[in-house]
Amino acid sequence: MFLSTNKVYGDAPNEIPLKELEKRYDYARPEDSAGIDETCRIDRTLHSLFGASKAAADLVAQEYGRYFKMKVGIFRGGCLTGPSHSGVELHGFLSYLVKIALSGGTYSIFGYKGKQVRDNIHSYDVVRAIEEFAANPRPGEVYNLGGGRENSISILEAIERIEQMTRRKLDWRYVEEARKGDHICYISNLGKFKSHYPNWKVTRGLDAILEEIIASQRAQLAQAGAR
Ligand SMILES: NC(=O)c1ccc[n+]([C@@H]2O[C@H](COP(=O)([O-])OP(=O)(O)OC[C@H]3O[C@@H](n4cnc5c(N)ncnc54)[C@H](O)[C@@H]3O)[C@@H](O)[C@H]2O)c1
Repeated sequence: MFLSTNKVYGDAPNEIPLKELEKRYDYARPEDSAGIDETCRIDRTLHSLFGASKAAADLVAQEYGRYFKMKVGIFRGGCLTGPSHSGVELHGFLSYLVKIALSGGTYSIFGYKGKQVRDNIHSYDVVRAIEEFAANPRPGEVYNLGGGRENSISILEAIERIEQMTRRKLDWRYVEEARKGDHICYISNLGKFKSHYPNWKVTRGLDAILEEIIASQRAQLAQAGAR
């Protein structure tokens, strides 16, 4: 199993026409509504070195499946998260936002007016997908794996929701320049994986994911306070 990433698509997903809503961007055309599928190109786009190195490994993993018929599956993750996620400034935004809400500090939004959108999937559902593949492997197949449209949220929306759920004000500042090559709106199209593995579905919605992250970080803080 190779845990690849949506960064293998570089900034190609940004070529899809978008519409700007009050608190988020979204795909403008109905045919794009289900999100990015595996036919999106992975070359001739701006990746970051992280994305390019993951793309190289993604291709090698595919090759082991196709050339040697090894039972290799490639999962291109959206935002994979859960109660044990240790978010940092540039990675793991839901976990990091909760950390700022509970422990203080200032969250920096980098570009796109805070309306950039990500789909989020609980680690339980990632593991379930891996289980389904392992039970019935298709050598060399590539799947996008994220929370899908239902679990998509923008940074502005996430701040609002986390403030409601923690009943705390979250301090943030806006930095004009977006991260280089950063996706504006990324929602994983889960159609291919669901059609190959119909027993799988997303079982944890956004509120359930956030509740677990908040509870876990509150417990960690209480433990640290008791020490
Ligand atoms: N979290 C995300 O949003 C996300 C999104 C897309 C793809 N991914 C991919 O999923 C994978 C896991 O990411 P994560 O966010 O859970 O990261 P993580 O840091 O929580 O987990 C990485 C794990 O790998 C282990 N590890 C690191 N170096 C190792 C080594 N040399 N040998 C053996 N184990 C080693 C670490 O101990 C850790 O348990 C990564 O390949 C990442 O690129 C993550």
